[in-house]
Amino acid sequence: MPLVNAAEMLTKAKAGHYAVGQFNINNLEWTKAILLTAQELNSPVILGVSEGAGKYMAGYKTVVGMVNGMLEELNITVPVALHLDHGSYEGAKKCIEAGFSSIMFDGSHYPIEENIEKTKELVAICKEKGLSIEAEVGSIGGEEDGIIGMGECADPNECKQIADLGVTMLAAGIGNIHGKYPDNWKGLSFETLDAVQKLTGAMPLVLHGGTGIPADMIKKAISLGVSKINVNTECQLAFQEATRKYIEEGKDLQGKGFDPRKLLAPGFEAIKATVKEKMELFGSVNKA
Ligand code: 13P
Repeated sequence: MPLVNAAEMLTKAKAGHYAVGQFNINNLEWTKAILLTAQELNSPVILGVSEGAGKYMAGYKTVVGMVNGMLEELNITVPVALHLDHGSYEGAKKCIEAGFSSIMFDGSHYPIEENIEKTKELVAICKEKGLSIEAEVGSIGGEEDGIIGMGECADPNECKQIADLGVTMLAAGIGNIHGKYPDNWKGLSFETLDAVQKLTGAMPLVLHGGTGIPADMIKKAISLGVSKINVNTECQLAFQEATRKYIEEGKDLQGKGFDPRKLLAPGFEAIKATVKEKMELFGSVNKA
């Protein structure tokens, strides 16, 4: 099936009280592992691409070519959206041109008036071209591509203002952080999430920083309207751990163990296992 935008899969997820995973990709192995797992579990999926990862993979057109090629050659029939993660205004425009099916415009670091203005412009372009669009209010904590946020809680009224612009989905900061959570993390603010959900109604809400959030908090967040959960670091850690083990066991020194197809295989399997675990937790299995 060709790429789809994320609107239908997220509307269904919100109505069905489950969440669709956005898994960020870094290279061919990542992309293939995520797509094959989604297909095996009959789950919809969103492939996330940060601007840094896009650059690393030789540009957005390369990413679009790789993903479209895999959808066809691997016979992927579950719904797949290709989504720009934390896009700038310029990055969002480039991805729209390159053939992404969904974008995030992260205007959370702008004053709210400017966030509204830029989001509005991109909503109009996405509507015309049939893409879905995610907006953000209240910056997510942690570091991603050199941008450091402190894990704010969004103002629910500002969330309502942005939701009313016609975005497909809304990321609201609720104390969540990208990367590993520090030991003194206070947890998600369900009070904020509840207030945002009450004001934004049917709007699918997005939870960033999915790595390391305990399962009970994930379930509670879904019950309060979260329909899309972003996971990046956890796949990276799983890949790193499996690759380290392979090398520490000296397997790269045995026979043709140096062959990248062998060297990267344990990490590939580890990503698959992580994605499977998350899809089961999020409840998206058999929801394609
Ligand atoms: P983690 O790296 O913490 O899983 O967060 C991913 C994310 O939110 C991407 O936008």
